[in-house]
Amino acid sequence: MASRKKTALSLARSLAASRKTVNEEGEVGIVAIIELNGIDKTYQGNAQEVRALREITLKLEAGDFVAVVGPSGCGKTTLMNVLGCLDQPTGGSYKLNGQETSGLSDDELAEIRNKQIGFVFQSFNLLPRTTALENVMLPYLYSDGSVNTERAEQLLRRVGLGDRLKSWPNQLSGGQQQRVAIARALANNPALVLADEPTGQLDTQASGEILSLLKELNREGTTIVIVTHDLDVAAHARRVITLKDGAILSDEVQQGLQGGESA
Ligand SMILES: Nc1ncnc2c1ncn2[C@@H]1O[C@H](COP(=O)(O)OP(=O)(O)O)[C@@H](O)[C@H]1O
Ligand SMILES: [Mg+2]
Repeated sequence: MASRKKTALSLARSLAASRKTVNEEGEVGIVAIIELNGIDKTYQGNAQEVRALREITLKLEAGDFVAVVGPSGCGKTTLMNVLGCLDQPTGGSYKLNGQETSGLSDDELAEIRNKQIGFVFQSFNLLPRTTALENVMLPYLYSDGSVNTERAEQLLRRVGLGDRLKSWPNQLSGGQQQRVAIARALANNPALVLADEPTGQLDTQASGEILSLLKELNREGTTIVIVTHDLDVAAHARRVITLKDGAILSDEVQQGLQGGESA
């Protein structure tokens, strides 16, 4: 009995490590961090409505590195806003870590955003005239108020900015500002990082550095979803989802790249 228990425990552990689960019938499945079912998003414009997302059904597994690509206007940012609980879909179901998000109050969604999701934007979105360190500590102001200066410093060291804690955004290069934004995204140790065109305003070298950083986080287990128009960036993702007119045009796993160990 004891040994059976032990076997079950070690099986559960190795499955967790490989992001798989076994249900009561013994079927092996993947742990979904994101589960979208028939997601629609329609914007009410003045003249006409815009159907920005159409029937998106998608499962993303924990620990994956996923790129979302497609032409301008195809719905990438809308999808990220839904995934990030920044915007509610007009139809369908979105489960994050198994929790249905539709019907949650604004406060509940804000708490999910704060605890479970880190955001990185194309334009960095740092507060001006606010130091790098203070920017990284901002998420603490929106959570329970316990400000963890030590962790914020540690995160800035980790993104290579240990010597720029007191710098203002306008004293930093684009690449450095984006590294501050990544440190800020990690403040509350989220399971999921959503990055919308994070290299869109950066030169090739800075883009490469940001990409390496995201890949490193992914190797440590953070699920990364990155929107990009840069196919060189997308080439590093394990899975590439292409949108067209608000719908999924293709969804491909790239050969030779494993989630968490992408080259
Ligand atoms: N707030 C909004 N109100 C009305 N239409 C919007 C709004 N946001 C986006 N759209 C429209 O939805 C479609 C998808 O936009 P978006 O998600 O920003 O695309 P992408 O990020 O791929 O460029 C576009 O047609 C865009 O004009
Ligand atoms: Mg966009």
